[in-house]
Amino acid sequence: MCGIVGYVGRSAGRVNTEHKALDVVLEGLRRLEYRGYDSAGIAVVADGAISSRKKSGKLSNLIAELEAHPLPDALTGIGHTRWATHGGPTDLNAHPHLSDGGKLALIHNGIIENFAELKQELVAKGVTFLSETDTEVAAALIGDIYRNQLGGDNASGGLTRAMELACQRLEGAFTLLAVHADQPDVVVAARRNSPLVVGLGEGENFLGSDVSGFIDYTRRAVELGQDQIVTITADTVAITDFFGAPAEGKEYYVNWDPASAEKGGFPSFMEKEIHDQPDAVLQTLLGRSDVDGKLTLDELRIDTELLKSVDKIIVLACGTSAYAGQVAKYAIERWCRIPTEVELSHEFRYRDPIVDANTLIVSISQSGETMDTLMAVRYAKEQGAKTVSICNTNGSTIPRESDAVLYTHAGPEIAVASTKAFLAQIAAAYLLGLYLAQLRGNKFQGEIKDILADLGKIPAKIQQILDNADAIKKLGHDMVDAKSVLFLGRHVGFPVAMEGALKLKELAYIHAEGFAAGELKHGPIALIEEGQPVFVVVPSPRGRDSLHAKVVSNIQEVRARGAKTIVIAEEGDEAVKAYAEHVIYIPETPTLLAPLLSTVPLQIFALALASAKGYDVDQPRNLAKSVTVE
Ligand code: M6R
Repeated sequence: MCGIVGYVGRSAGRVNTEHKALDVVLEGLRRLEYRGYDSAGIAVVADGAISSRKKSGKLSNLIAELEAHPLPDALTGIGHTRWATHGGPTDLNAHPHLSDGGKLALIHNGIIENFAELKQELVAKGVTFLSETDTEVAAALIGDIYRNQLGGDNASGGLTRAMELACQRLEGAFTLLAVHADQPDVVVAARRNSPLVVGLGEGENFLGSDVSGFIDYTRRAVELGQDQIVTITADTVAITDFFGAPAEGKEYYVNWDPASAEKGGFPSFMEKEIHDQPDAVLQTLLGRSDVDGKLTLDELRIDTELLKSVDKIIVLACGTSAYAGQVAKYAIERWCRIPTEVELSHEFRYRDPIVDANTLIVSISQSGETMDTLMAVRYAKEQGAKTVSICNTNGSTIPRESDAVLYTHAGPEIAVASTKAFLAQIAAAYLLGLYLAQLRGNKFQGEIKDILADLGKIPAKIQQILDNADAIKKLGHDMVDAKSVLFLGRHVGFPVAMEGALKLKELAYIHAEGFAAGELKHGPIALIEEGQPVFVVVPSPRGRDSLHAKVVSNIQEVRARGAKTIVIAEEGDEAVKAYAEHVIYIPETPTLLAPLLSTVPLQIFALALASAKGYDVDQPRNLAKSVTVE
């Protein structure tokens, strides 16, 4: 969850670098703030000492603190933005945490599961603690090893060795970054189950929770493996395992444009990302099929015979990504005739699921770092399943640990509430479904080509919705005082309804529920009273199985009980008009592809309502962009 940055530069006398650790680290934190924003802190090594500042609240509070109490110029520094786990978001609990008489500073992302036991041990040795965090325990442990076990002797490995010995004792998930006053031009980092990337510069090196932590300075990145330690100086990057054995990282080039991680003139990242959606879908579809509609999913390096023998698909994901999986289930089952389950990652591995070598696990994750999903994928692999990751973040942990990957090309998603990643995930899952259908002969090539052609029209249709969004924005403003909003949908409209409700909960902090419209009469209809706003996602009247008529009946049922109905319907659907307070029309499209359109007005509505309330739509309260704890 937390954002982590580390930097070591060289003195201007030796190389022409103008960078100061403070500036580099603050810039990195600014880009990583989406990962956690309940406190922030920074430590630099200068003049043979550690100087640090930390502050609860957003990064701006830390910046104000730094203006009031500046730090000395330095070439080595670490910085942290926090999403609280152990101990509330206070100044004292903010990172860095110090030990070894203030000579060592540590920042941490993750949870040290055995911190209580270690704390007892350290307290018995006379260590006192200022915070309630597990991080301070790790700092004290490293400090104790450095000073008392290694005698503060840098010849015996110094901070790196202390980190190794500490990591051998730590349980749980962690990325740790440490600096020590005795080694002023070194940052030592360790990772287990939490993300960490190295950035390679000229006469300077970087560390970040992800590449956005240093993207302004270098595009050369090194992926670290599990249970590795990295020691960076301005000129060197040395990687080992937790026992000091040399290890290697994998270098790659970051092809993100830093500008794409900026707001591009929009008032918020979320609004920008909603407007990025035509391109996000287009980029995800691009280059993956030929003129005959033959799909070649190059990154999907998994034996085709194995894919042919798959007899069950389990989609693993959380939050919005799980709703993308639920949408995809309808298409995959229809196109491939493979039974497909969608399961929340955190529920999956604790229920003794039936998984074997013929099971294909499809994990969906924007960040590729969601701990619940990572753990579920690992569990499925242990059971012999084949794993494919649909992911938006190059080089992140879940795709790295999966047998195959299908990247969504939505570009960096910064706003905590997921928007463009959702549409790109659906598009990618559809490509996967069509690819399996092609491979297994469930569909003729011509049919696949037709579906791809329909998918190809989606970006322009999303644009059309964006260009005509005034009515839905007005609705958001007009409903600023709503206390509860319900969302109904059927078939693929059901996960869309749940996604619409999630957006509203996340952004506007009001009660919102998404229901399967058919389920209403089994209980939830009791919630309907005079004036209750109900959004209904209506399927195309051209669709199959009289679904449209059933949903129109559902609208009538809630309306008869006083609901104020807002209907998302296909252009030309006159039947809904009579029963709706408001109709939001979306362009015509085949039923299975409709979620790529019907979601968009719901995103715009949530954004408008939350903005009307004056809330921070990019960083809603209590949330973090990547949930890297279980
Ligand atoms: O990075 P992931 O896609 O794995 O994240 C999963 C969820 O945490 C995420 O979709 C979350 O629900 C978003 N805040 C939704 O807007």
